[in-house]
Amino acid sequence: MRPIDGPAPRPVPVLRRPIDYTADVAQQPSPTSPTSSNDLPPVGTPYLRGRAQTPILEARNLTKRYRLGSHDVDALRGVSLSVQRGEFVALMGPSGSGKSTLLQLLGGLDRPTDGEVLLDGEVVSHLSDAQATRLRREKTGFVFQFFNLIPLLDVYENVALPFTIAGVDPRHGDAAARIHDVLELVDLLGRERNRPDQLSAGEQQRVALARALVGRPAILLADEPTGNLDYATGGEILDELWRSCDRLGQTIVLVTHDARAAAHADRVLVVGDGRIRDEIVLGRRVNRDARPLIDRLAQLGL
Ligand SMILES: Nc1ncnc2c1ncn2[C@@H]1O[C@H](COP(=O)(O)OP(=O)(O)OP(=O)(O)O)[C@@H](O)[C@H]1O
Ligand SMILES: [Mg+2]
Repeated sequence: MRPIDGPAPRPVPVLRRPIDYTADVAQQPSPTSPTSSNDLPPVGTPYLRGRAQTPILEARNLTKRYRLGSHDVDALRGVSLSVQRGEFVALMGPSGSGKSTLLQLLGGLDRPTDGEVLLDGEVVSHLSDAQATRLRREKTGFVFQFFNLIPLLDVYENVALPFTIAGVDPRHGDAAARIHDVLELVDLLGRERNRPDQLSAGEQQRVALARALVGRPAILLADEPTGNLDYATGGEILDELWRSCDRLGQTIVLVTHDARAAAHADRVLVVGDGRIRDEIVLGRRVNRDARPLIDRLAQLGL
């Protein structure tokens, strides 16, 4: 990745048609008027002013204990959090602190040892596996830290997977148009026939992101989605995700080690040793300058 003061980013690719993430989300009132100041607002500033403050995602006292041979690993030790519709939340924290574990529980990909996850008001752990899978497919898109692409499928087929699973023909109609839009968004048009092993790590990461976005999920859960991308490409994708929150009501929970990526969020939760250690409210800012966040993280010793 290039340093923060590297060359100016390339222009953001323009979407043929904006992706509307509100298809299965209650209509949002108009977006907040963003602040352009570099200064962080005081804690508690309502950056989603005018929007219904309904949590779309909640965690209540989540714990996760992994059994590793003869001893246990407490990956999460009681995490509670609430994410509002249209909010952009970043999870930061040291390696091994529990970020990926938390994201997987929030996405219903794994069950907590104790505690509850509520997705759109429904307790996911109280649902049958089939119901939980359906809710997850309808509401969430997940970008895995290690991509989880299917090696034998090409780029188009990997991105089309949510449609294929749902029994929709991805070669025609709206499905094909959506696949085109997300491939354009991640700048992979023309690479449709490549298999993952014929792509760079950054290209694979962009396929994973396209696959997560193609179903227009109400909630995007993304684990280091720009960790393998160069400065300009990562910045373009984060800017596009930010706009999807601000204009279209997309909800995003992003795990990252990169303060520049986290500076796109409205709020940063700092995870440490399986707990939420701190909350840094950035507010919604047109200027996503990372410096104020870096200063706050430094004050916290991170
Ligand atoms: N399947 C597993 N079995 C046993 N232990 C696990 C498992 N998955 C994670 N852990 C342990 O749980 C803790 C939290 O892991 P997790 O992957 O959530 O960390 P992380 O914050 O995402 O780290 P990184 O920034 O390196 O990705 C670590 O100590 C890890 O070794
Ligand atoms: Mg991780």
